[in-house]
Amino acid sequence: MKLILLGPPGSGKGTISERVEKDYKLYHLSAGALLREEVTKNTTIGKQIKQYIDRGELVPPEFVVQLVKLAVQHKNNYILDGFPRSIEQAEHIIDLKIDLVILLDISQDLVIQRFAGRRVCQTGEHGYHLQTLPPKTPGICDVDKTPLQQRQDDNPDIIKKRFQVYNNETKPLIDYYQKAHLLKKINANGTPDEVYQNVQKVIQKLKKK
Ligand code: AP5
Ligand code: MG
Repeated sequence: MKLILLGPPGSGKGTISERVEKDYKLYHLSAGALLREEVTKNTTIGKQIKQYIDRGELVPPEFVVQLVKLAVQHKNNYILDGFPRSIEQAEHIIDLKIDLVILLDISQDLVIQRFAGRRVCQTGEHGYHLQTLPPKTPGICDVDKTPLQQRQDDNPDIIKKRFQVYNNETKPLIDYYQKAHLLKKINANGTPDEVYQNVQKVIQKLKKK
């Protein structure tokens, strides 16, 4: 099963992907996490990538497409979280033969409220929210026990920019995947459990095909 999870910043892509990974044994590839990992390594490419992330802009395809394709090249079961984010990127992965694109449909006002409380662990793989999804021990990741922190690009100016980029560059993918008969729109305004139930319904349907 090859899935894409599409949605604006803070719509719950990471939160939902973590659950899908666990329950359906799919490899979770977060494009953002993959790029941040490259930044942490402080490689020449990492230094260039950092500038784009810090500004809330898309990292150019020559960096991101290759990294993603390399990460999934020997895999048949995965969920791509935050990739592709433009028609250009989508055209680069036509050969992957994606089964389903899930769109997390959410109101922009609601999503903005979520950012202030978001915390991530040091590995960047596990996400929490101070009010809606707190860790068992305050300030500590349930899974890898590392201290929780705020993401550097979670400040109001950069969040605004990330939304602009989503509206201009990523939203056209909705029409693109609708025309390819791959898109399923999910109501993502509810609690994490409610949203996940909606996602499970479309995955189950796909499995029955
Ligand atoms: P990325 O890391 O993907 O950031 P994003 O798209 O802005 O999305 P987020 O990770 O902020 O949110 P999310 O949808 O995962 O929500 P989450 O589950 O955390 O990308 C960062 C940057 O990397 C980009 O700006 C760009 O520079 C670069 N990049 C990435 N991909 C790229 C690509 N393909 N091409 C080029 N550049 C790329 O949830 C948010 C919060 O809400 C959490 O605290 C969570 O606990 C909470 N929450 C989740 N669901 C619910 C719910 N249902 N109810 C209440 N709270 C909830
Ligand atoms: Mg995320």
